[in-house]
Amino acid sequence: MENNFTDRTAQDRALIEECLARVFAAEARHADLQEAMEYSLLAGGKRIRPILTLETCRLCGGDPEAALPFACGVEMVHTYSLIHDDLPAMDNDGLRRGRPTNHIVYGEATAILAGDALLTAAFEQLTRAHLPAERIVEAVGCLSRAAGSAGMVGGQALDMAGEGKTLGREELELLQRLKTGALISSAAELGCIAAGGTPEQRARVRDYAQALGQAFQVRDDMLDVISSQSELGKPVGSDRVNEKSTYVTALGLEGCAALVEELTRRAARAVDGFAQPEFHIWLAKSLAQRTK
Ligand code: IPE
Ligand code: IPE
Ligand code: MG
Ligand code: MG
Ligand code: MG
Repeated sequence: MENNFTDRTAQDRALIEECLARVFAAEARHADLQEAMEYSLLAGGKRIRPILTLETCRLCGGDPEAALPFACGVEMVHTYSLIHDDLPAMDNDGLRRGRPTNHIVYGEATAILAGDALLTAAFEQLTRAHLPAERIVEAVGCLSRAAGSAGMVGGQALDMAGEGKTLGREELELLQRLKTGALISSAAELGCIAAGGTPEQRARVRDYAQALGQAFQVRDDMLDVISSQSELGKPVGSDRVNEKSTYVTALGLEGCAALVEELTRRAARAVDGFAQPEFHIWLAKSLAQRTK
């Protein structure tokens, strides 16, 4: 079973890489801005969010390939968020996806613009889906809410405002739910929307992804402490240097491990009413153990 699912993620990833590589095919490749966008977008990354979109489309009875433009759109928003997250004004990190960060290579102005352009190009991607117009409108609403001030950007603002402070558990949960959970949840919901899923399916998908997204950020905070730069492809110890409140500072490593386990069980329970929930259960379990 496990091998089947590993193969399936490899197939999903191949579709996603091919689609992302085509995003810029029609445009000139020599301009600095264009190159900076490709530099970060095509640098690998685990592609968890777009995989979640494709597989949630399948979970809800749709054809995963129909959801590809939605999947690429989410990954483009995510990549823009990483470019901006690494800027000197934010986390000031020098390595991402195993490469020097965008601003190190292209300068801050171009890195900011590359992020801006990826964000807008993401929504153009959504409009390219060969799906009924009302599903595309629904997807635009879903992704824009998740990316904006009530979602990822709002969470990043709370994260920056919390530097040097000790946040309480509730403040921390809100921050992480917005900065990481919202986009992961929208990734899954976009798959359900592409499939034309029912409101009940959408609610169960959201429950699954919210638990998965929280576990993902708890694990990210743990990896900043227990992993290595060569394994992660990004610096370790960045949260301590920036005096962030994280799940590790709030709960300790053991508390984090217990929370990841609990959230993984919650995610599995949320999808167990679907006809074929096995992939999603496997994904939650493997992300709980991830080392990068
Ligand atoms: C990193 O996300 C930022 C967080 C929200 C924790 P990923 O761990 O998914 O990064 P990539 O896409 O694999 O580089
Ligand atoms: C960033 O969280 C989440 C985003 C919205 C980009 P982190 O700052 O913890 O992400 P990493 O650890 O740099 O990947
Ligand atoms: Mg950050
Ligand atoms: Mg960061
Ligand atoms: Mg982190």
